[in-house]
Parts: sequence; C-alpha cells; structure tokens
Amino acid sequence: MALDTQTIYTSALQNTHALEMQALQIMERQVERLQHYPEMEAALRRHITETHGQRDRLEAALSARSATPSAVKEGFLGFVGNMMALGHTPAQDEILKNTYANHAFENFEIAAYTSLLAIAEAAGDNAHLSGFQLSLREEQGMAQKVAELLRPTTLRYLELSNAGEKADR
Ligand SMILES: [Fe+2]
Repeated sequence: MALDTQTIYTSALQNTHALEMQALQIMERQVERLQHYPEMEAALRRHITETHGQRDRLEAALSARSATPSAVKEGFLGFVGNMMALGHTPAQDEILKNTYANHAFENFEIAAYTSLLAIAEAAGDNAHLSGFQLSLREEQGMAQKVAELLRPTTLRYLELSNAGEKADR
C-alpha cells in the first residue's frame, strides 16, 4: 500500500505530539521528587516550559491541516516507554537511572524533530518549519545540558551516599 507524503506528515505530527505529551509526564513526575540535585531540577523546570511551547507548535500545525492529536500511539511510544521504565522503579540510584534515561530521551527527540523537519519540507509546510527548528534547538540544548550534568550528578550521588545521606533523588 502506497502512503503519500501528506499522510506521512500528519502521522509524524501526531507521533511527535504523543512524544511530547510523554515527555511532559516523565519530567513532571521527576521534578516533583528531586530534592538533592538543584541543577537537574532547574534544567527540568526550564525544559518543561519549553515543552509546552513545542506541544503548542505541533497542535497548531495539526489544526492547520484539520487534523487532531491522535490517541496514544502505542507502537511509537513502546520503545520510549521501555526506556523510561528504567527510571520508574524507586531505587537507591534512581537519580542515575533517570539521568541516563533523560539523555536517551532527549536524543530520541532530536532524531524525531530532524526527521519531522525533512517530512514537513517535503510536504511543503513552510509555515511551521521555523517553529520546528526552534523545537529542535531546544531539544539539542536540553540534551547537551543533561550530558553536562552526568558527571557532576554522579559525583554528588557518590558524595551523598558516602555521607550516609539520601542520594536517590
Ligand atoms: Fe525534550
């Protein structure tokens, strides 16, 4: 069965929208629990705000095509869901698992937006390209921030653990 570019584009917008909704859920859950990692908390809060804008851009592009966000895209989110389940189980090293998962998640989003931009261009949706380019830059910024925080977060985890303090989140 042939799929035309316009159909593929609508589906890509819906997939990316589902991804952002998942991102919000994950980050909001994490940020409420963080106690000992203020830099990570600040990065997450900033990115939650950015993600609201990203979701709005996707919804604007969907409604311009008279399309709506789809119900949960199980297949698409399956991989992400598995990856994020890493961080769901309360564990002594919860902060480390969450940081690895966030690193993976942001890079997944970079891939999703890079691909979405190619499809949007092919579909001729010039009106929304600059918005998605901004979303891509925001994902790149957050991916870089999480990468930068990997080492200091790990060192703080060691320090707290060695001092017999709660270090998990
Ligand atoms: Fe993101």
